[in-house]
Amino acid sequence: RSKDSFSIDDEDISNSFQAKPKRDTVINKTQNKNQLHLRLEELDFVPACKITTKEAISAIHRAKTQKCKQTISNITCLISADLLYPKELPNYCPNDGFVAGKSLGCFKDEKSFRLLNGHYGNYKNANSPEFCMHLCLQSGFLYAGVQYSSECFCGNEEPSPTSRLPDSSCNMKCPADPHLACGGYYTVNVYQTGIAKFSPQVAETTVSPSVRPARIVFLLTLNGRALRQVRRLIRILYHRDHYFYIHVDVRQDYLFRELLSLETQFPNIRLTRKRFCTIWGGASLLQMLLSSMHELLLSRWEWDFVINLSESDYPVKTGDKLVEFLTANKGKNFVKSHGREVQRFIQKQGLDKTFVECDTHMWRIGDRKLPWGIQIDGGSDWIALSREFVTYAASDEPDELVKGLRIVFNYTLLPAESFFHTVLKNSKFCNSYIDNNLHVTNWKRRLGCKCQYKHIVDWCGCSPNDFLPEDWLRIQNTETRQIFFARKFEPVINQAVVLQLEQWLYNVNFNKDIPNINSYWQSVYHHLDLTPSPDDSLLTVAQSIIRINSKLISDKCRLIPEKILEMTSFHADDIYQKTLILYVANDTGAAQKVTVETNFKYKTTFVLLKSSPFLHRLKSLTVSTEYDPKEQTFRNFAHIMGPYSEPTLVFEFNSSPELAAKSTNITFLWIDPVGRLADVHDVSIDDNYALGHIKPALKQPLLPGAWTVKLIHKQVLAEMKFLIAPLEFFSGNVVTQKQVGFVHSGSEIIKEFDVQWGRFLPNGFDRETLLSKSIADSKRFGADLRDWIDSLVNKFFSIGSSCASDRSTVCTRSFDECGKTNWSSFAPDPKSSLNNL
Ligand code: UDX
Repeated sequence: RSKDSFSIDDEDISNSFQAKPKRDTVINKTQNKNQLHLRLEELDFVPACKITTKEAISAIHRAKTQKCKQTISNITCLISADLLYPKELPNYCPNDGFVAGKSLGCFKDEKSFRLLNGHYGNYKNANSPEFCMHLCLQSGFLYAGVQYSSECFCGNEEPSPTSRLPDSSCNMKCPADPHLACGGYYTVNVYQTGIAKFSPQVAETTVSPSVRPARIVFLLTLNGRALRQVRRLIRILYHRDHYFYIHVDVRQDYLFRELLSLETQFPNIRLTRKRFCTIWGGASLLQMLLSSMHELLLSRWEWDFVINLSESDYPVKTGDKLVEFLTANKGKNFVKSHGREVQRFIQKQGLDKTFVECDTHMWRIGDRKLPWGIQIDGGSDWIALSREFVTYAASDEPDELVKGLRIVFNYTLLPAESFFHTVLKNSKFCNSYIDNNLHVTNWKRRLGCKCQYKHIVDWCGCSPNDFLPEDWLRIQNTETRQIFFARKFEPVINQAVVLQLEQWLYNVNFNKDIPNINSYWQSVYHHLDLTPSPDDSLLTVAQSIIRINSKLISDKCRLIPEKILEMTSFHADDIYQKTLILYVANDTGAAQKVTVETNFKYKTTFVLLKSSPFLHRLKSLTVSTEYDPKEQTFRNFAHIMGPYSEPTLVFEFNSSPELAAKSTNITFLWIDPVGRLADVHDVSIDDNYALGHIKPALKQPLLPGAWTVKLIHKQVLAEMKFLIAPLEFFSGNVVTQKQVGFVHSGSEIIKEFDVQWGRFLPNGFDRETLLSKSIADSKRFGADLRDWIDSLVNKFFSIGSSCASDRSTVCTRSFDECGKTNWSSFAPDPKSSLNNL
């Protein structure tokens, strides 16, 4: 029996479940007992029933909008009245998912065989002799003529030695269990040591020459701003006989707008207009897939398979090989199963809980019973489905099974990881089930299972890591396997591995021939975006940079910046280089509008104040926001922060050369611009390499100005400064005089700290000076505010060169032409170009 042994390197487990969180990690710890009763005065509606389940009450409290509170309340009431979920669903699979006529060969290794034949179901009266009889008959049917032994266990119990049956016995009787009497799960593993006569389906490998090559729809489900990587993906997959149907998360204006132009360029690329807010793990992901599949069925496109891919997938085999494989397997359906005990999978995946999606969150509202009569299955949500099966599963006239499962999976976390598997196993398509998602997934659970989605889902989910060159073997090992895609790839993390993969696929080295092959540009702002809403501090700093820049060149000409069009993060050789600002300016000499791109970068502001062997190990101290513990990097590459940012400190120490050294206790002090201690963190560093991050509990709005982090070990060993920029913009508009008073006055510091830290803070006199300056600064407005911002931006950022798209004016003549400037977003980028396909 498989135990709970998810190893971090187990690439075959491609679903993203993890142990469920303890209740108190989800239900806000500060909630007191009174809050576990619904207070009607916090609701603008009257719940349809008395809500008593703790999880539902907690969810209703935590939901932001009344509409969402009401949705949760309604679903809770429907469930308690037994009106939501189907109690039983039909299983239309003619032979329970196993196919006759194929020999698996002789298996001496019980373990591998057990995984193949793990058989699971929900049965009524599971503790009755009739059930056991039925089971034996079924087993007898499946394994007629072979020796087998079987064991059974009930509910969550481990099998007891007495439940083990002698070979071929049909008198199996489970211990009486009240849980089972009212319905529970029953797992039966049947395994044998002879020659098996029946097996699950395996993929075909040879194509009959008369079969028309398979045509594929790549259903791209996209999020984020990695436009150039998406183009590169389309470029490598592109073939005129295939199709691209693209869903972009409704909150991502930029990607949608930029990809829309492809529709006029290519008849086989279309974006769905029915867009969903597809939060991580949300029910909306399945709704989106079913909606897009349904649209595909109505389209004129002639396709045989749908394969869903995200912005972070990439092929590991050529299109020709994929077509050859799918042509040999027309009508088959590729889904990857968890390969573990079903009951464990159900629990770990939270399938036995109801989740409700609203306010861009999946709220866990309580336990539920899954319907009787069907086999639950699931694993990875990366799938390749045949047209026949999609016609069935995404039909607008679903049968009882599909209709019932759609209801169940509308209230399921990570629904796409189980819905298609379960429909497949219990429908007449069961024999077309192939346990393969065609993907290799770069799981590194130590990094990817940090409960990082708890602000989006009431559960601990895992994510796979981005491939790095050091993970290359995992990709190479797919060569002889029926694996066609790998995930994840993110060029802001690593792009070299994408190139390595392309060169390996086509057996060419085009490194030198393609300009800017190792460069990558990713949008961080576009003026046409309504959603996500623009970051005020980003706009403030960008506006300041171009203002300062125009002053810097004022001895040559007058360039008045007018409007920022775009901002782009520029990376080369997998290192963040600079942030680019593209803007329209008025060249007053020529009375002409020009388009200019100027680059800038933050200055490193960390200094070692002492020299000591311990300090020599300190590699870096950095403060920024959006720290990603999975990829161990800040997503805010530009390090721009404002009063509403949530800064994080990352420290990195090399390992000690003398391994005998003991642990060193160090302290980090967070000091605000007026010299007040805002937070304190103790950390113990041992001999080993250490990479840690600290997110201080700072109350917003943060006081604008220069903040300091001090590293203390008996004395101040190192110090770094970071900028909280005052805001010129608030919610996208120029800040008003009324707003500055509030936004720039900081917050009170409520915490009390040990007096011992006082000696590391500015003295009373200095603090008085800082405070009075800060009070005066907080009132600055208009041109005065801009001067303050510019003086701070000058200290913390360095401004690089500028380029212009047209060099006809006095100012722009001194710039390079953007199209010929290697860092510019106008530089040639053929690897992501879809021209000349
Ligand atoms: C992992 C698993 O690989 C996947 O099977 C499971 O569905 C989620 O967890 P992960 O890397 O964590 O994947 O998720 P990610 O690839 O970021 O997102 C999954 C899909 O949802 C992608 O298609 C992504 O574009 C989409 N998504 C994600 C959105 O549309 N909006 C979001 O806010 C987040």
